[in-house]
Amino acid sequence: MADSCSCASCKSSSLFSGLMPRGVHLVCGLPVVTRQRQKIVPLAEGDVVEIGFGSGLNLPHYDRKAVRSLVGVNPDDGLPDLARKAIARQDLHTELLVESAEKMSLPSQSADTVVVTYSLCSIPDVSATLAEMHRILRPGGRLLFCEHGRSPKRDVAFLQDALNAPWRAVAAGCHLNRETGSLIEASGFALEQYSIYDLGFGTRILGTHHLGIARKG
Ligand SMILES: C[S@@+](CC[C@H](N)C(=O)[O-])C[C@H]1O[C@@H](n2cnc3c(N)ncnc32)[C@H](O)[C@@H]1O
Repeated sequence: MADSCSCASCKSSSLFSGLMPRGVHLVCGLPVVTRQRQKIVPLAEGDVVEIGFGSGLNLPHYDRKAVRSLVGVNPDDGLPDLARKAIARQDLHTELLVESAEKMSLPSQSADTVVVTYSLCSIPDVSATLAEMHRILRPGGRLLFCEHGRSPKRDVAFLQDALNAPWRAVAAGCHLNRETGSLIEASGFALEQYSIYDLGFGTRILGTHHLGIARKG
């Protein structure tokens, strides 16, 4: 097919892919979301890999004294263009790897900390990604996570299951109902700290948060 197809479907999908990075940046930059990432990102230390780097919204929250190196991983879906601009504005040297987290080019046992915020919901093969996170961490390394996911409340989880397919279609593959902690444990991590909470103003379907620290044994 020609690169510049002008059919309505290609036009609307290229409009969507053009708007998607800015939409993600806007929503993920809301103050309420920033407050959640501030709870976990400053705990990163040593050689750090951030999975689903997005537009680089975590950059200001890393502890400059504790981080030795930072690598961001994100596929080429438009967000790396915004990330490069964010990296240029910051004083933290950051390498951006434009690739999928399901199969990373990073060496095994090369990271002290893996950070993931609001991305395990969107990554298509979350188990392969968690296996990769486990592979690249050194023994004793930590996975810091802040995600939205499945509600422990049955009525909310029922709605999340019902709305998941249409939501995925309009929200770049984002899942409403992933059981973050169980998925992390099933990948060989030990959960050291884990809290599930909602943001408290009628946002449970999208706002049930899974935040914590898991360690590679
Ligand atoms: C909702 S955004 C969150 C971005 C960022 N982590 C934040 O907290 O602002 C989800 C991110 O997951 C990324 N993503 C989707 N599929 C991915 C994959 N296979 N590997 C790595 N990242 C992926 C998207 O490109 C996007 O940057």
